[in-house]
Amino acid sequence: MEQVKFTEMQQGDVEDYAFLEPLEIEYASGTGQRVFDSLDALDTSFSGFQISRLGHSVQSATRAWRDGADIDWVVSALLHDIGDVYAPYNHDEYAAVVLAPFVREQCTWTVKVHADFQKYYYADKVGGNKDVRDKYRDHACFDDCADFCALWDQNSFDPAYDDLPLEFFRPMVLEVFARKAFDPDVLRSGVREPLVNDTVAAQRKKAA
Ligand SMILES: [Fe+2]
Ligand SMILES: [Fe+2]
Repeated sequence: MEQVKFTEMQQGDVEDYAFLEPLEIEYASGTGQRVFDSLDALDTSFSGFQISRLGHSVQSATRAWRDGADIDWVVSALLHDIGDVYAPYNHDEYAAVVLAPFVREQCTWTVKVHADFQKYYYADKVGGNKDVRDKYRDHACFDDCADFCALWDQNSFDPAYDDLPLEFFRPMVLEVFARKAFDPDVLRSGVREPLVNDTVAAQRKKAA
């Protein structure tokens, strides 16, 4: 069997769907590579800043790495703006949907709402409400998203910053997307890991 027999899904039989299942699993296993490759599109997404969206993403991830953040945070920082290409009006939600099966819920939520938290740094200059993030005040991860934007996002537009190469992060992306999707041990509902770990940061600095 090289193809299913049906042209409408309702006509498929048990044999058809048994044939498709391993193909779907095999395709899904390439998600990490595809997501990593998709970062290239951020290099030309939109202009005007002093660095590209890809440069911004790498700089966010570099800062997270140097702060001693764990792999969930580093990969989330790298991918937090991948929605800019296809979802410019809800790019945060787009990135969160991609990350959701594979990282801690804390990180997914942070990425999902980061655009509202970023407004704290500029919305008043474009006639908007800089405090729109306050609607999330009661959320357990409010401070995490505030810190994410303060430490890794709003400040990562600096062409003079010493970024790590994009390739440095490839193994981390592949590791995260190789996890079992929606594994409770990965999602770790309710668990908050710190963004900054000074001990790990010092170890990484020494090894660099
Ligand atoms: Fe963003
Ligand atoms: Fe960003």
